[in-house]
Amino acid sequence: MEFWPSANSEVDKWKEVQLVYQSALKEIGTKLEILNDEFQHVHKYNPIEHIKSRIKTSESIVKKLKRNGYDSTIENMIEHVNDIAGIRVICSFTSDIEQIAKMIERQSDLKVIGIKDYFTNPKPNGYQSYHMLVTVPINLSDRIVDTKVEIQIRTVAMDFWASLEHKIHYKFEGETPETIERELMECARMVSELDAKMLSLNNEVRKIEEQD
Ligand code: GTP
Ligand code: MG
Repeated sequence: MEFWPSANSEVDKWKEVQLVYQSALKEIGTKLEILNDEFQHVHKYNPIEHIKSRIKTSESIVKKLKRNGYDSTIENMIEHVNDIAGIRVICSFTSDIEQIAKMIERQSDLKVIGIKDYFTNPKPNGYQSYHMLVTVPINLSDRIVDTKVEIQIRTVAMDFWASLEHKIHYKFEGETPETIERELMECARMVSELDAKMLSLNNEVRKIEEQD
């Protein structure tokens, strides 16, 4: 069942929405921690460096609805804003991205409803990350509701780039000077190169470890 708030007043509906999305973040956060612990146990290695999660502020939700031509109703938020609950999984190596994505896909109670692979196909500005839109069932006292969560998986280096680009984009209110845009693209190229070098270095180290 898709999630619709049952409260009567708009304020109570919004509280219910936040509660459900917060629960969805907890569920996914725990799932990822379990996968990481098990991976550590089996392979003696943590694919996840760290996890950040957030609930989108009501201001940002309203802005996004307006931008996409929707009225600011709670129903529209749930239906049309896919990243009310967002979780970012930061890993060390590009090979971890695929591992983590596969582990998420294999979870029997999660439904993957969308993938945006900006890892294989970076955005024109250089942005790289692997996005999964999933739903997780949340058990409320009287019903079970499928709740959307946006999962972004990226390396530490990709995250470094994305946070700087985000700040710059915000500072120039989307009108970033072309010279800066070009430099950001150059940085994105360097990020890819660094990720590739770090991965091959790590593979070399692992080979030596296996020989010992
Ligand atoms: P919004 O970009 O949120 O409107 O949604 P969308 O439906 O276009 O989804 P998309 O997968 O393109 O982006 C979702 C999220 O990824 C964004 O909210 C950001 O957190 C992140 N993201 C996407 N593109 C960029 C980018 O160019 N730079 C940075 N820093 N983050 C990005
Ligand atoms: Mg976008």
